[in-house]
Amino acid sequence: MSSKTAYVQPVADSLSVFKEGIFNGKVLFCTGGGSGICKAMTEAVMRHGANSVIVGRNLERLTAAAQELSKATGKICLPAQADVRKPDQLKSAVAKTIEQFGRIDFVICGAAGNFLTPISGLSENGFRTVIEIDALGTYHTIKATIPYVRESKGSYIHVHVSAAKAAVDATSAVLAVEEGPHGVRSNVIAPGPIGGTEGMDRLGPKGTSVSSMFLGMPVGRLGDVKDIANTTVFLFSDAASFITGQVLVVDGGNEHLRTTQ
Ligand code: HXC
Repeated sequence: MSSKTAYVQPVADSLSVFKEGIFNGKVLFCTGGGSGICKAMTEAVMRHGANSVIVGRNLERLTAAAQELSKATGKICLPAQADVRKPDQLKSAVAKTIEQFGRIDFVICGAAGNFLTPISGLSENGFRTVIEIDALGTYHTIKATIPYVRESKGSYIHVHVSAAKAAVDATSAVLAVEEGPHGVRSNVIAPGPIGGTEGMDRLGPKGTSVSSMFLGMPVGRLGDVKDIANTTVFLFSDAASFITGQVLVVDGGNEHLRTTQ
């Protein structure tokens, strides 16, 4: 299969590499699950048997995404409106999850805020907003879900995000050490350039065609949401039961370009 074919392939077609039903009876709680990478991660986990709750600020978008995910996977996906900057809203989303499903096995702290600006154009409030969404939002999500994840001995995955990257990575590493004895694993997925996502629209090079971007990538293509979805299924599965506290870079070798050229 050519890499270009893989790029345009829908997420659903690529998931048969993992055994079916490995997440039967499990429940995923995913912030940022209404669109983009996190929606694809949610779909992948649901295709392997889990029900899910997707969390975000825009209820209309979440509701449409939840219906789409339920229909595509045959499992239940429920929308829960919450801003990750508001702990009380997150607690309500968690309460809804427990009320509906009685458990939380997997958590993806995927909600991110990001925009391109030089520091000269970055106000204190702009900086604070990104830290509040990415770093504090991850913290609030962990605080709200950890009692339930401990009970079910599940896993966390945090999506790698811009200015708060170091804080998210450090939070995950400490969580892995502290919660390891309680059966909880915590890992970070650090996606490279993923085509067709809001992140690429916001942060990718402007005025460059997608085909010319392929040429600069070691694997000859941009990432696809299915690449992150497959990584998610792997990390949540028992195949990754000895992997915790790690940052897994899923970028087609992009990070090594600078050191090898
Ligand atoms: C400079 C900006 C700005 C910009 C906002 N601000 N956009 N400053 N350049 N482009 C400033 C505002 O002026 C304001 O500061 C402050 O940020 C807060 O802005 P608000 O619009 O009031 O905040 P809010 O409505 O809460 O929106 C949050 C946001 C927004 C982060 C600013 O962009 C957002 O909601 N993003 C969510 C979706 C998202 O970012 N997805 C991409 C994630 S992808 P002042 O001083 O004026 O009050 C990702 C990984 C991608 O992270 C990897 C790709 C390779």
